[in-house]
Amino acid sequence: MSYLETLFSLQGRIAVVTGASRGIGRGIATGLLGAGASAVLTGTDPKRLEAAVAEFKGQGRNADGFVCDVSDRGQIDGLVEYVRRTYGRIDILVNNAGVAFGHPALEYPDDQWDRTIRVNLEAPFRLIRGFGAMMKQQGRGVIINVTSINAEVGFPDNPAYAASKGGLKMMTKALANDLGRHGIRVNALGPGYVHTDLNAGSWADPERRRIRAERSMLGRWGEPEDLAGLAIFLASDASSFVTGQDFYADGGWIAKGL
Ligand SMILES: NC(=O)c1ccc[n+]([C@@H]2O[C@H](COP(=O)([O-])OP(=O)(O)OC[C@H]3O[C@@H](n4cnc5c(N)ncnc54)[C@H](OP(=O)(O)O)[C@@H]3O)[C@@H](O)[C@H]2O)c1
Repeated sequence: MSYLETLFSLQGRIAVVTGASRGIGRGIATGLLGAGASAVLTGTDPKRLEAAVAEFKGQGRNADGFVCDVSDRGQIDGLVEYVRRTYGRIDILVNNAGVAFGHPALEYPDDQWDRTIRVNLEAPFRLIRGFGAMMKQQGRGVIINVTSINAEVGFPDNPAYAASKGGLKMMTKALANDLGRHGIRVNALGPGYVHTDLNAGSWADPERRRIRAERSMLGRWGEPEDLAGLAIFLASDASSFVTGQDFYADGGWIAKGL
């Protein structure tokens, strides 16, 4: 292997990517698998998950699937136990599964507030607590929390999502403190507008689609695979001294002025 390949290689590493049956999680899984990792992909819809795993396997990748609704504590425990039993270790955890429900702020429904916080913020903590214990025993591990440009800038009609992603960004920094001495790095990866089912509504409306593309410095939406390179960097030894940081693959969205 060349120096460059060794630096970025994930050969022999075991990864878990939540919400990897489609969208950004799938784009990140494409990167990690392509760099040589074995990856357990999770999702809630068994058929969709099975199809994603089959496609990766067809490309010769070491993909595995496990159905897990991360809003359910018991199912998180089941995932941790499955990985412990099947692989005996975990090197990379990507907390990607996320939901977003837009509503006018003063009419925001309690149940959607609760679900957003549970899936986007509480579940990553529980997954880190479970898999972090395994990583501590190993003396190494990498955690990547998928946040959003909403962790930096406010958007209308989205208070729960902004709170969850801003919280996840700060939890990343707090946990990087707690886990660093065990050889565990924790970083945040925040996408800008990416063409997935999550924002199918904005994509379908030609005007909103155009405005979001033009608001980016690159003049376009991201595609799920645009996140793969940053994920490989954060998961690999190329970022061996990087922890507690938040990175954005947003086409320049946050940095842009007028
Ligand atoms: N798309 C964007 O523009 C954008 C921008 C910034 C940040 N993000 C963040 O990126 C992440 C992925 O978003 P996306 O756009 O790829 O979303 P997506 O296309 O809607 O896909 C969401 C994925 O998460 C899974 N998921 C949803 N709820 C889950 C739960 N309770 N338990 C386990 N898995 C669950 C889904 O599984 P099923 O297929 O089984 O439903 C699916 O695989 C999210 O954290 C989101 O907040 C997205």
